[in-house]
Amino acid sequence: MREREPNTRLLHTAFKSNRAGQVGEALTPPVVLTTSFYFPSLEKGAAVARGDEPGFVYTRGGNPTLRTVEETVSTLEGAEDSLVVASGMAATTSTLITLLKPGDHVVAGAAQYGGTYGFLHGVAARMGVSFTTVDATDVGQLERAIRPETRVVFVETVGNPMMTVTPIDAVATITRSRDIALVVDNTFASGALYRPLSQGATVVVNSATKYMNGHGDTIIGTISGAATVIAAIKDTVNQLGGIANPLAAYLMWRGMATLYARMAVHSDTALQVAEALEAMPGVARVRYPGLKSHPQHDWIASHFTGGRAGGMMSIDLDPHTDVAAFVDHLALFHRAVSLGDTTSLIEQPTSLTHRKLTEAEQASMALTPRTLRLSIGLEAPADLIEDLRQALATAR
Ligand SMILES: Cc1ncc(COP(=O)(O)O)c(C=O)c1O
Repeated sequence: MREREPNTRLLHTAFKSNRAGQVGEALTPPVVLTTSFYFPSLEKGAAVARGDEPGFVYTRGGNPTLRTVEETVSTLEGAEDSLVVASGMAATTSTLITLLKPGDHVVAGAAQYGGTYGFLHGVAARMGVSFTTVDATDVGQLERAIRPETRVVFVETVGNPMMTVTPIDAVATITRSRDIALVVDNTFASGALYRPLSQGATVVVNSATKYMNGHGDTIIGTISGAATVIAAIKDTVNQLGGIANPLAAYLMWRGMATLYARMAVHSDTALQVAEALEAMPGVARVRYPGLKSHPQHDWIASHFTGGRAGGMMSIDLDPHTDVAAFVDHLALFHRAVSLGDTTSLIEQPTSLTHRKLTEAEQASMALTPRTLRLSIGLEAPADLIEDLRQALATAR
């Protein structure tokens, strides 16, 4: 029989895995809000704890709601197994702490989320782990940065906030031949647009706070990969305590039901907005991988689902346009960090998400205070374009 489409499989995973199909049973996954699970006898408890019998002991180590959501995430990512954790940062840090030990080296993409950068500079450095940042769009540069002690290459599929695109398949060919783990932060794309594991990544992490949840109301993260790697990371998560709350996991599961539909609308609207912005006076540059002018447009067109490029973009305003006046005159774009919400958002990376980067580091990414990051929501494209146009006119 023909394999069903990814969206159909995602929608039905929870029902297949958890429903006994009895009359009167809840159709959506029950939110099991309990710290501990009951055992009828000492012997039964010991058997579950040993893993000899199925069941749960304590929610930090596992919970039925989390398990259902994790199975749905595995369907989305095409993964053997997945974990749902407290945040995107918990996903990144638990994964890296599991894969690295003192003396190891990481090659990381230069365009990346500021929190990841903070971890590499902070806790990871204190653990004795060193790192080198590279322009991950340049596979040759990435390969030359690999040392004998390199254990992990960490990249974002679409880099935050410069919208650089890492050719994951080409990077995976390098990491696989050298037995190095490739960890991909796929937050900007989500598994609906791109599946890094199918292209050779070892682990994929997501700030599910963003598109996977999609409604701006829950901080949560996911980790997916082979069962053996996920088992090792699960042990780290249990020791560090970064487990997800079952209620937050349920909210993400509900958001995931519309992920494919939302990503299509976010992408199609973003392309229209990006094309309009390219023609607007006051805008010096638009970075959106769906635009033909984007250097990695062809890779996105051939690797992302339907050639769609997602809802994120960044723009540079020209020197004749007042950045604060433009941002403050927007009526529909909410001035806020985060991304992937139903409504459009705008932020200035140098003062918010990427403020901890030194000026030199910002300069090496071509990030300036004139750079603004836009998360395109689900509003009508014409309304967003009109809002941008009126704010630009006021700011010039
Ligand atoms: C690309 C990327 N990765 C990771 C994170 C961290 O996720 P969280 O805020 O859920 O910890 C973010 C947050 O903005 C992000 O944009």
